[in-house]
Amino acid sequence: MKNFAKSQAMQKRAQQITPLGVNSNFRYWGEGITPYVSKGKGAYLWDVDGNRYIDYRMAFGPIILGHAVDEIDNKVAEEIRNGVLFAMTGELELEVEEMIINMVPGVQMVRLATTGTEATMHAIRVARAFTGREMIVKFEGNYHGFHDNTLWSTYAPAEAYGSPRSPIPVPASSGIPRTLGSLIITLPFNDKEGFERVMFSYGRQIAAVITEPCQGNCGAILPQPGFLDLVQQKCTEYGAMFILDEVKTGFRIGNGGAQEYYNLSPDLITYAKALGNGYPAAAFGGKREVMEIIGRGVAQGGTYTNNKPGVAGAWATLKMLQEKPILAEIEQRGKRLMDGVDQILTEEGLVHTMNGYPAMFSFAIGAEQVTNQREWNKTDHDLYLSIMDKMMERGVMPDMDAREPWFMAHAHSEADVDETLTVFREAVREAKG
Ligand SMILES: Cc1ncc(COP(=O)(O)O)c(C=O)c1O
Repeated sequence: MKNFAKSQAMQKRAQQITPLGVNSNFRYWGEGITPYVSKGKGAYLWDVDGNRYIDYRMAFGPIILGHAVDEIDNKVAEEIRNGVLFAMTGELELEVEEMIINMVPGVQMVRLATTGTEATMHAIRVARAFTGREMIVKFEGNYHGFHDNTLWSTYAPAEAYGSPRSPIPVPASSGIPRTLGSLIITLPFNDKEGFERVMFSYGRQIAAVITEPCQGNCGAILPQPGFLDLVQQKCTEYGAMFILDEVKTGFRIGNGGAQEYYNLSPDLITYAKALGNGYPAAAFGGKREVMEIIGRGVAQGGTYTNNKPGVAGAWATLKMLQEKPILAEIEQRGKRLMDGVDQILTEEGLVHTMNGYPAMFSFAIGAEQVTNQREWNKTDHDLYLSIMDKMMERGVMPDMDAREPWFMAHAHSEADVDETLTVFREAVREAKG
């Protein structure tokens, strides 16, 4: 059994000074079982008790190369010695923007931000300003950050959502103004018919349809063939903006992200996470005629939008992604892991479905197919949690929450994949009992 004495003591200390003893609700796993971290290197992290884990949480996705990668950290260290913030524009950030535009076919103009929350918040503002409309369509189970605009129908139990024909938008937190509910329409992901119905009824009032390409915050549920095309097509037909939230998929499933993968041309796209390999960098961009309204009656900015650590981290990360076949290698190793997990679950007799991409994948137990959150909610989360728990005991750390995909980094080696599969088989057998 692993020793967690220091984590437990640190949790007690932390709870005196910060709510739940963590600086983001998602980091609280429960009393006495919330790990506190000490350091990371490559594919591994160590908790404060010195336990080492192969990390598949990768900070919920940002770490695409690995922890503490010298090429990235050296560039950041070099740049920050010349000052970190000036409220003026510098060349390094222009180079980052040029790299984004070169790598992603659909981005003609871009603005930097600091977090994914900011990026989606700004994209929504721009969409509303461009269309002169206020309503937003979002899909149940998608998460677009912590702002009040779209923190609706993210994690609620399926019963709370009402009939799929006329879903009830459910705020994901106290403190979100109820009146904002009149500006949002929620729908099950992949529901083509429901989406067409909503667009037929409300299309000309809708400023934007925002979606993750795959449900990166709900078991990595993939879009059904034609679903994202339909979203794009109806947005064009009714003059609404199509916002593709690539905060998790961007610079992870390919250099051009899901936009390129699915051959889409959204009006606006948002990025964060893998853009900076852990340094605080985000961006949103899209079509020139849409982006150009910023600064012409449309407000956007932020003190830290070009913070040097974030910009330098993004610069070095994008340069590596451009120069080396990093994402192709991640895909190949991720595929081996994903296939291995699939095979073990089959051999152990568990009905399941695999979802996501090799660079960020998940599985749901107890169903052969899952296409939206309502279906996903009915799958066996207890068994999933139990398997993850047993993996943790053996030094492999995917997230405990079945909603979070397993994130691959370039630092994961073939040997890490082998070890993970061995551990996974043991954990499944033990959890099944
Ligand atoms: C798809 C998506 N959009 C937006 C966000 C918010 O990003 P951040 O946590 O950087 O504010 C997240 C975070 O997980 C996300 O997964």
